[in-house]
Amino acid sequence: MSKTISGFSKLSKTEKIDWLTSTYFSNPEQAKYVLEQYANNDQKLQQLHDEFIENTISNYYLPFGVAPNFDINGKTYAIPMAIEESSVVAAASKAAKFWQSRGGFKATVLSTEKIGQVHFMFQGDKDRLQVFFEQIKPKLIDATKALTKNMEQRGGGILDIELRDKTEAIANYFQLHATFETLDAMGANFINSCLEQFAKTLKEEAEHYEAFSTEERQLQIIMSILSNYVPQCIVRAEVSCKVEELSDNKTIAAEDFAEKFIQAVRIAEVEPYRAVTHNKGIMNGVDAVVLATGNDFRAVEAGVHAYAARTGSYSSLSHAKVEHGVFTFWMDLPLALGTVGGLTKLHPLVKVALEMLGNPSAKELMQIVAVAGLAQNFAALRSLTTTGIQEGHMKMHLMNMLNQYEATSEEKSKLIEYFKTHVVSNASVEEAVAGLRR
Ligand code: MEV
Repeated sequence: MSKTISGFSKLSKTEKIDWLTSTYFSNPEQAKYVLEQYANNDQKLQQLHDEFIENTISNYYLPFGVAPNFDINGKTYAIPMAIEESSVVAAASKAAKFWQSRGGFKATVLSTEKIGQVHFMFQGDKDRLQVFFEQIKPKLIDATKALTKNMEQRGGGILDIELRDKTEAIANYFQLHATFETLDAMGANFINSCLEQFAKTLKEEAEHYEAFSTEERQLQIIMSILSNYVPQCIVRAEVSCKVEELSDNKTIAAEDFAEKFIQAVRIAEVEPYRAVTHNKGIMNGVDAVVLATGNDFRAVEAGVHAYAARTGSYSSLSHAKVEHGVFTFWMDLPLALGTVGGLTKLHPLVKVALEMLGNPSAKELMQIVAVAGLAQNFAALRSLTTTGIQEGHMKMHLMNMLNQYEATSEEKSKLIEYFKTHVVSNASVEEAVAGLRR
């Protein structure tokens, strides 16, 4: 039986599901049941989700959790997080509580510039190209007026356009490298529309530029697209307290903890294998809030990791020090986020998430997201350098394991109680479940 189909997108949803389940599943009815189970009974809501993308056949749920008690710049937030990993929300909440009694988090937006590029090929005299560019620069900007009017009224728009010579990397390769201020919008559509207009103007003007040779007039546009690398769109998140305040009087003396913690950060600063995992922990917090607030987590991920490698060696995003008896832990993060446009007015849960945060500006959201990342990193390093990560992680994972064994509510409460004083592992859970059922 052929597994290829043409015109799939034109089929109705039921037809799509019928074809898929009969082609790829040993038990089509079972697959259909699950797809149907995840579809929403509210037709309007389902249609909204169907229309976000093409070929929707069901919904994919992630838990929508909340980490309360986050004090950021003197304001208290309950932070919404969309994530499947068991221990993330618990760790964030714990870190929030820890820092709430030690002055809270501080966050500052250091810059908000976004970048886009028109990549093109030009075979000819570089100086003539530069003169041409200077002459047409006002036209490049003028031709986007219809696109930039609203953004300019709000105080944003195109900041600058530069001509960049990239011929050392690729023969005849040049760029228009443009910078933008997109205020509360992530700005992808705005930037890409402006870039495509720049490209059009550039091509048209080159075709009629008298000083160009015939070859030079055939300037070739390759592509126009924003960059998800935003090293000039940076937010700083930090916490600090006196070293002696670091102790929770349980596991480790404050000075020893500060020392081990700083060593752990230093290791991530110099050792890429560790840095990737260290930064993954930061992204546990960052992505969960980015996703809950309807932002593009792939863009954030790509940009953040490029930033972490900006010196040529992949390194820790966060840093820590003790100076004059004060422990400081901080991180600068490149974040292009929006609180208008995109999914923000469309997805009902995104609206709830944003309202929970007090309908923040994009700048405020940058601060919240960076703090969630720093809190997550703090919680991970705290566990790693004291009890080890598995204790908390496996406790949180216990529920997943119990669900795998299809434990009843009664079994669950008995086993949760039991594992308060016993080590959680795959084997110990299996044994305890079996013991209870014997
Ligand atoms: C797990 O999702 C994240 C950690 O591995 C982060 C870290 O090692 O710092 C615990």
